Amino acid sequence: MDALNFIYKRRSIRKFTDAPVEDALIEQLLRAAMAAPSAMNLKPWRFVVIRDPQRLERLRKALPFARMNAPTAISVCGDVRSLRRMVSENFWQQDCSAATENLLLAASALGLGAVWCGVTPIARLQKAVSAVLELPEGVLPLNLVFIGYPAEEKPARTQYDPALVFLDTYGNPWKPDNL
Ligand SMILES: Cc1cc2nc3c(=O)[nH]c(=O)nc-3n(C[C@H](O)[C@H](O)[C@H](O)COP(=O)(O)O)c2cc1C
Repeated sequence: MDALNFIYKRRSIRKFTDAPVEDALIEQLLRAAMAAPSAMNLKPWRFVVIRDPQRLERLRKALPFARMNAPTAISVCGDVRSLRRMVSENFWQQDCSAATENLLLAASALGLGAVWCGVTPIARLQKAVSAVLELPEGVLPLNLVFIGYPAEEKPARTQYDPALVFLDTYGNPWKPDNL
């Protein structure tokens, strides 16, 4: 259990102090993100680190559920322009989601707060974020992750629910006999 506590401690943090996040920490988050698995190891992920207060403000205005006061955000984007377009087009969201979860876990482990704000698949939000970040055609924003020093605390937890687990066939309850 203890070894997995870093997973349970990750929570969405939506209130931040004004303290800037050091570049060295941001780099560690990006290292963790780029340790994620990806289909055919194509690594379609691209990351835009946003520090410019004006651009952050434009993003907050464009995204109705992303009005957080964090000093930094990272947009995890997928580049689907690669040669193996079939693969990258079909799997980029999964690859970039794996990278995002790694990034969130790393932020929490380093004492930072972060929240994943969804962009894809909402076309209107994709368009707005692409415009603010000047993304080229074929690079799509999966999300916007706000990052900063937390100004709120949330308890570690899992939302484990055995009723959501089945054995062999859907509907057959999974009942571990040693619990
Ligand atoms: C794809 C996705 C999109 C999300 N979009 C938003 C969002 O726009 N705004 C927000 O405040 N939280 C967003 N969240 C965070 C969820 O609300 C949060 O993960 C969920 O309530 C569980 O809480 P926890 O992260 O503390 O475990 C998003 C999470 C995911 C995975």
